[in-house]
Amino acid sequence: MKPKVIIFEDAQEISKYAVELIKNELDKKSNLVLGLPTGKTVIPIYSELVKAHEEKMVNLSKTKVFDLDEYIGLKPEQKESFEYFLNKNLFTRIKIPEKNLNFIKGTAINLTKECEEYEQKIKKAGGIDLMILGIGANGHIAFNEPGSPFDSRTREIILTYSTKAANFGKIYSLIKAPKRALTIGIATIIESKKIILIATGKRKAKAVKETLESPPNTKCPASALQNHSDVTILLDKAAANLLKEKKDGIPKQNLN
Ligand code: GLP
Repeated sequence: MKPKVIIFEDAQEISKYAVELIKNELDKKSNLVLGLPTGKTVIPIYSELVKAHEEKMVNLSKTKVFDLDEYIGLKPEQKESFEYFLNKNLFTRIKIPEKNLNFIKGTAINLTKECEEYEQKIKKAGGIDLMILGIGANGHIAFNEPGSPFDSRTREIILTYSTKAANFGKIYSLIKAPKRALTIGIATIIESKKIILIATGKRKAKAVKETLESPPNTKCPASALQNHSDVTILLDKAAANLLKEKKDGIPKQNLN
């Protein structure tokens, strides 16, 4: 089945809808296993989720969470680390028992073992029920950079210049940005039961077009999502701008 694409006016509208989708899944299964990304795109969604949690509209207390990736060598207390990001934006504000929070450790002494164990932990949790993804301007999902095989598992990856520049700034990226990261694999992502991908801004328009309109190929890792039967893609107008079908108008759809 083709990914379901929904185009919104802006990031705020997307956030409200994304939280509705999460709530919908939580209503079906309170101990939902969630895969959660980092990035600027998801900040408004996480604040909407915190708001919904505070207003007791959603209850995340029984969920199990897996983050998707981490820079090698960064400690959780370092502001650029993804563990810091998720704690700052979510888990200092939504209390989830620590045993249910899983962060892949970029400081592990044995990185291969860390990756293998992370895969095992996901399996032991019964797999990811709901995977939320952003997308890189080069089509990466989690940190699966272009060229990542579709059967890839959790592993070490070398980051591209464009990814480092996007996350650390052009100058800083050349000197100080981590060169490597750990990431869950594309196969790990595809095994999730339900996937929501979110993209906003014109910087993502080309990647979104390739994700949806080119045949699945490893140059655009997100195009692997075409092989999944339950993918919803939430876009703002700028990110949807290059889509062919959009010109015919993709209707805004309701939750069901
Ligand atoms: C990051 C993460 C991805 C994220 C992407 C987009 O580096 N590894 O999980 O989806 O890049 O980030 P942003 O939302 O800041 O554009």
